[in-house]
Amino acid sequence: STVSLAVIPGDGIGPEVTAEAVKVLQAVTAGGPVRFDLTEYRLGAEHWLATGETLPEETLEALKGHDAILFGAVGAAPGDKSMPSGLIERELLLKLRFSFDHFVNLRPSRLYPGVASPLANPGTIDFIVVREGTEGPYTGNGGVLRAGTPQEIATEVSLNTAHGVERVVRDAFRRANDRPRKKLTLVHKHNVLVNAGQLWKRTVEAVAAEFPEVTHDYLHVDAATIFMVTDPARFDVIVTDNLFGDIITDLAAAVTGGIGLAASGNLNMDGTFPSMFEPVHGSAPDIAGQQKADPSAAILSAALMLRHLGLEKEAARVEQAVEADVAARTGEPRTTAAIGNAITAAVS
Ligand code: NAI
Ligand code: MG
Repeated sequence: STVSLAVIPGDGIGPEVTAEAVKVLQAVTAGGPVRFDLTEYRLGAEHWLATGETLPEETLEALKGHDAILFGAVGAAPGDKSMPSGLIERELLLKLRFSFDHFVNLRPSRLYPGVASPLANPGTIDFIVVREGTEGPYTGNGGVLRAGTPQEIATEVSLNTAHGVERVVRDAFRRANDRPRKKLTLVHKHNVLVNAGQLWKRTVEAVAAEFPEVTHDYLHVDAATIFMVTDPARFDVIVTDNLFGDIITDLAAAVTGGIGLAASGNLNMDGTFPSMFEPVHGSAPDIAGQQKADPSAAILSAALMLRHLGLEKEAARVEQAVEADVAARTGEPRTTAAIGNAITAAVS
């Protein structure tokens, strides 16, 4: 069979790391029953500067026809004053996540053997964060009154629907049920954000009844950041809202040795729309064009895609190859392509 894959390399290191992920993908599926048919889309800050387009309707329509999307990173270089702040995030990245109903933002965190954690006693870190991807404070539900005056009022209303919370909580319980430790932690702030917090808490209690083998507990987000540093081994599956998930997954990436290894999937679990896979990191203008970026996060994101598409064996091969490559690293600098080629050779 053929998987129709859209590739959006984006800006900065995006094209560099995506090229390596594509090499690995092609190598691991070569000679197998599933073939990837790639279509590249030029989108991002550079494309906006050249054309004034962020994500035209016809491009969105075309993307909808693919089975999956591999995304690099987008974002202008800091010296570029012509790009309005947040434009590309809102009009491209968030628009894709919302249009394609990517309600599960899956972010695994593992401390790989041989990787140095900044923590003195990291223990075994192996958890996943299931971050809600379509609601919370990121929906643009707000506005500004009396702009620019001393009486300015700015709102960013967090949106939480029973439907939206329930489907992501159920997804997180399913994932917990499939893991050996079968443990779910809800992270929120229901003592202060009582309205949304109670909805999340009640939903977890209700859905828990469907998964008798999964144990569950609760942490306020501030306490969760402490445990992520003092005892990250306590986590198995975390389910949380869009904002908290954004923040704690950067911390999770830091304690597991860095952003160069953090992968993610924006999943439409109904299969109505293509899911999108991307490294957690951004376009890293400070190292762009220098072959200094670690492509591992992009390659691990491709592995998440393989698993989402039902290609479990291929996904595991890619993850093992990254793990072996990471374990063998000596600290000698290697180019983006050298890392990608080594992992490609290992899965071939
Ligand atoms: P960033 O993730 O691009 O970079 C943060 C730091 O990590 C930099 O020092 C960078 O060199 C380093 N880094 C990032 N990825 C790396 C890799 N693969 N290998 C080695 N080092 C790596 O975040 P920053 O600097 O806050 O944002 C830069 C641009 O990216 C901004 O325009 C921002 O809006 C955008 N951005 C885009 C995202 C996306 O497309 N999903 C996510 C985060 C930021
Ligand atoms: Mg982030």
